[in-house]
Amino acid sequence: TGDKMMAGRFVGSTDPIMEMLSASITVDQRLSEVDIQGSMAYAKALEKAGILSKTELEKILSGLEKISEEWSKGVFGVIQTDEDIHTANERRLKELIGDVAGKLHTGRSRNDQVVTDLKLFMKNSLSIISTHLLQLIKTLVERAAIEIDVILPGYTHLQKAQPIRWSQFLLSHAVALTRDSERLGEIKKRINVLPLGSGALAGNPLEIDRELLRSELDFASISLNSMDAVARGTLWVMEFLSVATLLMIHLSKMAEDLIIYSTTEFGFLTLSDTYCSGSSLMPQKKNPDSLELIRSKAGRVFGRLAAILMVLKGLPSTYNKDLQEDKEAVFDVVDTLNAVLQVATGVISTLQINKESMEKALSPEILSSDLALYLVHKGVSTRGRPGPPCAPSPLFGSDVAQVFSVVTSVEQYTAAGGTAKSSVTAQIEQLRELLKRL
Ligand code: ARG
Repeated sequence: TGDKMMAGRFVGSTDPIMEMLSASITVDQRLSEVDIQGSMAYAKALEKAGILSKTELEKILSGLEKISEEWSKGVFGVIQTDEDIHTANERRLKELIGDVAGKLHTGRSRNDQVVTDLKLFMKNSLSIISTHLLQLIKTLVERAAIEIDVILPGYTHLQKAQPIRWSQFLLSHAVALTRDSERLGEIKKRINVLPLGSGALAGNPLEIDRELLRSELDFASISLNSMDAVARGTLWVMEFLSVATLLMIHLSKMAEDLIIYSTTEFGFLTLSDTYCSGSSLMPQKKNPDSLELIRSKAGRVFGRLAAILMVLKGLPSTYNKDLQEDKEAVFDVVDTLNAVLQVATGVISTLQINKESMEKALSPEILSSDLALYLVHKGVSTRGRPGPPCAPSPLFGSDVAQVFSVVTSVEQYTAAGGTAKSSVTAQIEQLRELLKRL
């Protein structure tokens, strides 16, 4: 393998194991399409800058077109010396159109090329992830609207605390997810900045029209500083993985709640068979595999973030080969999010609630705080009264009976954000409005 693309001062061949360690083609061939898009835009800018003639440009564009076809038909032949997607496409272009292919890389470096590719990939991925996330939030909100009259115990410390509406529970998860959706939107803004034209680190010496590159590749603006632009890992990759981790932790919490509620001991809900597995040995079992996987994938995504943070820690400025690690993390997290969000939506929309079990669980002690509140209305301070709140009080009148109703209980919480019907309805309306803007 003496046939090295970056010949020049290198004479010997590389250790084959080193070559294997260095190659990223098996991972980054996923960027084949965006790599070609980026090259097409760059070729046009080179022609405008007078580096390519019209004929040369056409040759390059039609060669790239052909390569794109090969990738989409699955017939692109990766060879052993293809280190990454950029060198693979460039090698193939040379085979197809000859030496003029070499002109395409004038003034460009794989450093600005790879960041551009990854950003193009991320722009597309983020909109897919956002769509799946919105679908999940919508499913929670619409389910909350339908089942607004269902009441179950709410828990703190996993101990029965106060009665709440089932919808209040569903919406608590929906609200958390809207913040993650906003965070994804924030990242989108920063990914939408074009790095191409930053070269290896110093910029582009050909008076390349970066504005042309921006509009060709549909970015919102161009990067401000070439050294910053090629150090891709330092900002948005970390940011994406961080937000993905937050989102996964929210989903994991929701999954855990649902796992607990679906046990025979709680029996509040039954998951659809589509999202569970059975046991051949213990036929009574129905395992919530989908929710357990959501829970475990949160660990996986955080692991990817932790790995990238470790890689980045202590790196000097601009490009270092270490950065090559980021694509595997990004692809894995994108795929995980897409799968997990769709499964979560499926689980939520197909689960069945068991109202009887919920009612049964609403045992009288859950109204202790209501009894205390009753006494507050009679003029007693909640902290001042000694003894357990359930002990009979001389202040209990004939109206105390109405305290022993979970509907009366939840209907007290009319302040904004509470679990009274009016307040839950207001939440649903606000979330529906918000969803239009997310
Ligand atoms: N495959 C490389 C990466 O993703 C492309 C950039 C290579 N640049 C370089 N200076 N070696 O990191």
